[in-house]
Amino acid sequence: CISGRSFRFVVKASVQTASEGLQIKAIPTKPVEGQKTGTSGLRKKVKVFQQENYLANWIQALFNSLPLEDYKDGVLVLGGDGRYFNREAAQIIIKIAAGNGVGKILVGRDGLMSTPAVSAVIRKQKANGGFIMSASHNPGGPEYDWGIKFNYSSGQPAPESITDKIYGNTLSISEIKTADIPDVDLSSVGTVRYGNFTVEVVDPVSDYLELMEEVFDFQLIKDLISRADFRFSFDAMHAVTGAYAKPIFVDRLGASLDSISNGVPLEDFGHGHPDPNLTYAKDLVNIMYAKDAPDFGAASDGDGDRNMILGRGFFITPSDSVAIIAANAQAAIPYFKDGPKGLARSMPTSGALDRVASKLNLPFFEVPTGWKFFGNLMDAGRLSICGEESFGTGSDHIREKDGIWAVLAWLSIIAYQNKDKKVGEKLVSVADIAKEHWATYGRNFFSRYDYEECESSGANKMMEYLRDIISKTKQGEKYGNYTLDFADDFSYTDPVDGSVASKQGLRFVFTDGSRIIYRLSGTGSAGATIRIYIEQFEPDVAKHDVDAQTALKPLIDLALSISKLEEFTGREKPTVIT
Ligand code: G6P
Ligand code: ZN
Repeated sequence: CISGRSFRFVVKASVQTASEGLQIKAIPTKPVEGQKTGTSGLRKKVKVFQQENYLANWIQALFNSLPLEDYKDGVLVLGGDGRYFNREAAQIIIKIAAGNGVGKILVGRDGLMSTPAVSAVIRKQKANGGFIMSASHNPGGPEYDWGIKFNYSSGQPAPESITDKIYGNTLSISEIKTADIPDVDLSSVGTVRYGNFTVEVVDPVSDYLELMEEVFDFQLIKDLISRADFRFSFDAMHAVTGAYAKPIFVDRLGASLDSISNGVPLEDFGHGHPDPNLTYAKDLVNIMYAKDAPDFGAASDGDGDRNMILGRGFFITPSDSVAIIAANAQAAIPYFKDGPKGLARSMPTSGALDRVASKLNLPFFEVPTGWKFFGNLMDAGRLSICGEESFGTGSDHIREKDGIWAVLAWLSIIAYQNKDKKVGEKLVSVADIAKEHWATYGRNFFSRYDYEECESSGANKMMEYLRDIISKTKQGEKYGNYTLDFADDFSYTDPVDGSVASKQGLRFVFTDGSRIIYRLSGTGSAGATIRIYIEQFEPDVAKHDVDAQTALKPLIDLALSISKLEEFTGREKPTVIT
């Protein structure tokens, strides 16, 4: 196992001398089971990754899976969210990359770079791809989670065809190629060379900030932020956006320093769970629901791709957020000045966005859960703005969802709607923007119930039970006051490459458009997490102010009774409600 800061291979190494002058060692190794990637990379407990050669095997399996021209003498980006084990992992990755003939690694200072920034840097620097060391919103520290993702040359997460290949190779791996070089000092910007291999430590913010300045009207946002009657609060949750918040919001856009909280990235996220939702972003929720709350609040997750948006005492669901951004993008965001090319959401995300697409007469797509499904549509020029209920929002400026982008999008919309407001005039608030949107499009009430870390067998049995029910359902059947339109196991055929993703979530769709969806999470690291998504459309403005939990109560009860969740899992209550 690993001890100390630097990783040592303890098996006998045969030494090869590469023509470039780099000493390459071929380390014998054996396959380790269970290295299949989930929704978003390989994610396990730190202790699992600390097993001898565990990470090294996966990285080598990845190189074994890529065509040579995808990395030989090429450039790869390396970044991470600052969590525990990133320091050791960065050195392992750098050495194996060198051992496999990569020409250059661009690594963020201190190993930091947010997921969206890695995507941006890959695109801007025309790199062949990049590694992201993160378990996203999962807690960090020696007892918690670690993870690794690989992104491709257009900045998008590696497609399933590649991740399947990597998994296959982890089952037969016999050798790791690693360069015999010292640990690289990542603490300051600079370049080191070993033969033909270069490591360049870069500022993790500058390329990303430059892109944000191209996308948004920074002056418009600055004018809003500098108003005495507008206050803003951003919670970096001690995660990677801590490295971005000050340079962007404070130094560039003029926010006060005290508008940033938990702004220093920490290896254990300050014992937090860096997931920006109403349960885990408690600090921000307390600030935004207090008496003297700021006008606008936002948070981002471990690796900076998720976001949560709040007004004063007002929560914007991610499903509403993407719809509101899409509806206002052309007016408020220069990048969309010619109008978005198309809109898309993941299947469980509410239908609020569908209504915007239909009103704006835009192409619209419904894809399975997972950001990777948006990439092909973007590359084909058919999709500009998309989002997921899981607190992901973004656009085709990169190929990942983007937390800071979402915050800047909201600031742009608020700024645009208030640009003519004189001091003393009441500003259009976040809540006003949402209510105005509902009045125009109707409101899609939405909630998600999570049952985390259930016993896998009970969760699987429940899904099987539901599949069985679905196979017997008929259109027109009554479920309480609801009439079934259809029920199925969602499957998606990519309109660009024809690939099919099946078993992507169990749906009960009713004739009034209400939906109940059941899915097992693909991002957990222990047991099974069951998610139930509940949605109901309400066109009547007079009913828009009802609390979502109240409005959805009958459907929630129905969802629990159809699935017999309590019987299968023993759970009386969800762990998280959003
Ligand atoms: C990651 C992906 C998202 C996806 C989410 C689903 O965050 O990047 O695109 O929506 O996982 O997580 P789940 O736990 O529901 O599989
Ligand atoms: Zn994330």
